[in-house]
Amino acid sequence: MRPIRKRFPEFHFRFVLVTTLAITSQKGGVGKTTLSINLAYAFARSGRKTLLVDTDPQGSVGLSLTRQSRHLSGFYDFLENPVMNVAELIVPTRLPTFSLVAAGQSSAYEFGSGPVVGNVHRIRGFVSQIRAMKYDVCIFDTAAGLFGVTADVLGVSSGVMVPQQSEPLGVRSVPKMLEALTRMRAVNPSLQILGVVLTMVKKELSESLESAQALRGLLPEEMVMQTEIPRNDLYVQASARGLPVGVMAEGAETLAIFEQLRLELEQRINPPIPT
Ligand SMILES: Nc1ncnc2c1ncn2[C@@H]1O[C@H](COP(=O)(O)OP(=O)(O)OP(=O)(O)O)[C@@H](O)[C@H]1O
Ligand SMILES: [Mg+2]
Repeated sequence: MRPIRKRFPEFHFRFVLVTTLAITSQKGGVGKTTLSINLAYAFARSGRKTLLVDTDPQGSVGLSLTRQSRHLSGFYDFLENPVMNVAELIVPTRLPTFSLVAAGQSSAYEFGSGPVVGNVHRIRGFVSQIRAMKYDVCIFDTAAGLFGVTADVLGVSSGVMVPQQSEPLGVRSVPKMLEALTRMRAVNPSLQILGVVLTMVKKELSESLESAQALRGLLPEEMVMQTEIPRNDLYVQASARGLPVGVMAEGAETLAIFEQLRLELEQRINPPIPT
């Protein structure tokens, strides 16, 4: 008998190879949301059908999409409501390959106090539904820390990336963070630790450059992305509007940086995202 892959190529393709990336960090304010939005935009621009999901109850992904975005149902409503479908939550953008799911309304989770039992199962359901909708890539922006819903998201993700601000105080905590993520592989052996991305790098500041070097010294070479995200006020302007910076008139340079990061990531993601 021919193997399943040959008999049902589409089934195999979609069933096995959906790429779900969680963007996590121990610390807050390191650039998770900025990375999530801009990386998702880079995947979408490359032609991948991409879904950006806000799993941070304080989240601001897509804040500016519509005036009503704060009232949209989203990820937390899906966790709470067993009959809700992902299709009801999807917010399209001007780029046909790029859609969003907002964090939603459910306040029970706001301080990490919501019921956790059953979340992993429900998030697995979320992933199967987007798989059926033929998304290629799903990026989960998460709240800081590795507990609660973020841990549940990691329990079903195929990869995780860690942004790290290029400043002296933050760098030392990164190896511990990676150890914690490695322990999560006991729960989810398919979780690929894709590496750390240096963010807010300020080339003209010696402390910033030294921190970047220190991190590269602390970790195995392959654990730190070659691409670094420079500090640039455009990110603040774009994130205040919940937008990818590349849609702004002055954003061409940042588009190139995130495209480079996407290409670097695509070389690491295993199994590769289908083309
Ligand atoms: N490369 C950058 N250059 C300048 N400012 C940046 C850069 N990346 C992010 N910022 C700004 O830093 C702040 C924190 O970034 P962001 O919201 O992405 O972090 P976060 O890790 O998602 O935070 P939280 O843990 O609160 O969710 C925001 O005001 C954002 O605009
Ligand atoms: Mg955030």
